[in-house]
Amino acid sequence: MEVPFLDLSIQYKEIRDEIDTNLQKVFKKGNFILGKEVEEFENEFAEYCGVDYGVGVNSGTDALFLALKALNIGAGDEVIVPAFTYIASSLAISYTGAKPVFCDIEEDTYNINPDLIEDKITDKTKAIMVVHLYGNPVDMQPILDISDKYNIKIIEDCAQAHGAVYRPTRINTNSKSRIDTNKKNDGRETINDGRKVGSFGDVGCFSFYPTKNLAAFGDAGMVVTNNKELRDRLYRLRNYGRKDKYHHVEIGYNSRLDTVQAVILKAKLKKLDKWNELRRNNAEYYNSLLCDIDEIITPIEKDYAKHVYHVYGVRIKDNKRSKVIEKLNDNNISAIIHYPIPLHLQKAYSELKYKEKDFPVSEKIALEILSLPMFPGIKKEQIEYVVRVLKLAFSL
Ligand SMILES: Cc1ncc(COP(=O)(O)O)c(C=O)c1O
Repeated sequence: MEVPFLDLSIQYKEIRDEIDTNLQKVFKKGNFILGKEVEEFENEFAEYCGVDYGVGVNSGTDALFLALKALNIGAGDEVIVPAFTYIASSLAISYTGAKPVFCDIEEDTYNINPDLIEDKITDKTKAIMVVHLYGNPVDMQPILDISDKYNIKIIEDCAQAHGAVYRPTRINTNSKSRIDTNKKNDGRETINDGRKVGSFGDVGCFSFYPTKNLAAFGDAGMVVTNNKELRDRLYRLRNYGRKDKYHHVEIGYNSRLDTVQAVILKAKLKKLDKWNELRRNNAEYYNSLLCDIDEIITPIEKDYAKHVYHVYGVRIKDNKRSKVIEKLNDNNISAIIHYPIPLHLQKAYSELKYKEKDFPVSEKIALEILSLPMFPGIKKEQIEYVVRVLKLAFSL
């Protein structure tokens, strides 16, 4: 049996008729740049995330970069970001001229550790970039409290977490934070059912790279926000800084979402919840089969989180990861390491003078983590086969 890491053709089959018809319309009309489908998708995706506005851009990296620019972050500023994420998160900070300040992660969720953030704050800190890694929501409440206390912005990198939900379990009633609460009859405050990621920070930034939970047929991204001023600034920044056709009021960029991609994303958005549910079922099935292998740590979903398993990452203990990958590959199973080198140890960031052991949890997870095949249409038998081969790998 062969188990690919993911199979994009399954999704395509489900939306083929709709996109074939709608793409033909775009081809006939020729409205390839900022056609009406872009605005429709911006509105539909913003509504899906529970926010007022969406601004379609060229990629997830550009979503982060333009969001930082719209927040006036640049040279001389610092932005706190986890040391364990895909490098696009911190690259976007570097592009603005600001300095990424790395922070270690939690050992159970692999997300930024809220308890370590305050120590990193200086008078140059302008923002915290949280990354909902693998589709698992960050514990936002303590981070929103820090943002209120120090008056710093929050950028949510949701590139891997379309549709993931955060439902705070502890509430700070003194906080001005943006999490809605409901008053019970007895006056106690309770927490609502949670909200989608991207709706908590000043901005939420999404990638629609072809492998993502909501994926285009090329590069694409979006910034979502409740702030109209930010939305208007982002409209300008993505389109040469122009106010109208030939009036350019700031140095902008060319970073628009193509109409063709918007058509595809509109069709796929209708399936996103169903596909995320299938991912969750697959994760549950993997968890149930892997729970008796001592050398494997399966992913965790905290009380506050609805994980959407963009990546199903397990930890392989006792330095056995290379052996396990070899065994999987020998048996036609594809597995990937997300990510083998934490950002503070990347050569690109050598100027920042970080060194080994600066972020021990990030370094440990980078040595142990392994992503197993995960996509909505993966078959039960394929999951069972992956687990059988894993068991064989440990019995060697
Ligand atoms: C966490 C994270 N942030 C940002 C990005 C950048 O997105 P894009 O590839 O669309 O530029 C990615 C892409 O993989 C990512 O995983």
